[in-house]
Amino acid sequence: MRRALIAVLGAATLFLAMLVAAALPASAAPGTLKEAAAAKGIVFGTAAAQNHLGEAAYTETLNREFNQLTPENEMKWETTEPSRNSFGYGAADQHVGHARSQGMAVRGHTLVWHSQLPGWVEDISSRTELLDVMRNHISNVAGHFRGDLEYWDVVNEAFLDGSGARRDTVFQRVIGDDYIEEAFRAARAADPGAELCYNDYNIDGRNAKSDAVYAMVQDFKRRGVPIDCVGLQAHLIVGSVPGDIQANIQRFADLGVKVYITELDIRMQTPPDSAKLAQQADDYRAVTSACVAVAACKGITVWGVTDKYSWVPDVFEGEGAALLFDDDYGKKPAYDATLEALGGDPGGGDGGGGDGSVTCAYTRTAQWGTGFNGRVTITAGGGSVSSWTAVLTMNSGQDVAALWNGRPTENGSTVTVKPAGWNSSLAPGASASFGFTVNAPDGNVSDPGLACDTP
Ligand code: XIL
Repeated sequence: MRRALIAVLGAATLFLAMLVAAALPASAAPGTLKEAAAAKGIVFGTAAAQNHLGEAAYTETLNREFNQLTPENEMKWETTEPSRNSFGYGAADQHVGHARSQGMAVRGHTLVWHSQLPGWVEDISSRTELLDVMRNHISNVAGHFRGDLEYWDVVNEAFLDGSGARRDTVFQRVIGDDYIEEAFRAARAADPGAELCYNDYNIDGRNAKSDAVYAMVQDFKRRGVPIDCVGLQAHLIVGSVPGDIQANIQRFADLGVKVYITELDIRMQTPPDSAKLAQQADDYRAVTSACVAVAACKGITVWGVTDKYSWVPDVFEGEGAALLFDDDYGKKPAYDATLEALGGDPGGGDGGGGDGSVTCAYTRTAQWGTGFNGRVTITAGGGSVSSWTAVLTMNSGQDVAALWNGRPTENGSTVTVKPAGWNSSLAPGASASFGFTVNAPDGNVSDPGLACDTP
């Protein structure tokens, strides 16, 4: 562990600190998916199900490897609004709480989808009424999680395979083509801070369906409909990753949206054998490399922690073994290949975090007779970090009255600050900040001492 510095933070001290950090030996290649992804400036996530969080190996694997979580079912319409205007968020809130405690970003999934949709919505036949119901659903659900989620899959699976025509859903039939843009507008109004994505399967390579999604996104960008990203679900089959996946990611990126691989799994006929597992490893490597190669591709999410709980065997008869961890949470060849494609070292890491170093700097942002506000910025050095700690040493008569974007623990004059959650992992050179208010009734407004470290 490296201790980077610092009493008080003039530019000279900071400069010195950076020299010290630069002189330290390079850190080992990261040994977990989330650390390796962070070093590439992307997130690596998984779908997770509430009912498995009590299983120690499940949660240990989830927390160790992933820094983004997508509730697998708990934010879907049938769960959040099972009957009209009656909303429930119990399981979804637990997901968000777990993710926050682990510093994971959360992808909301999903606001408008034809599946897992309660019957009362299917029964509506007036455009005005269904528009109202859809907007009300979005404003309540996205409003409930406002500020807590990094992304929303606003509309899911609105196009058909083959032709690229719109799927015949109640929304399409009753509202018409504009239901998608109305959904995005409602989502932006409900949570202006979340990235809003269109999400679909079989749009991973170029084909009639991804062409149709491309045309829609292009049209939305031209007309100012609020869309920020496209999610390529990537439910794939061993040996058939589209050869043009990178080109397809790139063309969406060129429209000015981010791209996420949102539900990656690569299934095979069961039982698995070494040849199939080797092919699967190559396939995971190909998908991961395609995302890493395009700057606007900002994250990869696999659709489940372990083969044991994957949706695949329930839906595709005779198929399974589609994920990175086997039924016993053993790392499959696909795990090593994915980690390598992210620049990590399957032989290296100890599963822990915080190989990189950090420096930190303090700025006084406001002052008055009996107090002041300060801001601390923590910056990763040449390696990524999965977390950080900053220690403030207060002067006599000073008390930290409030602190935001960090989690403080006070012990006498020492205030130890950990990340708030979402600002935990840092790519090389990236920064996180927290702010605080100090009360100094005696008028002692001198700057606190500051030191920072990993993890
Ligand atoms: C699946 C879940 O994994 C299953 O548990 C559930 O029974 C059905 O839905 N595309 C999506 C996901 O967008 O929401 C689906 O998840 C898989 C396909």
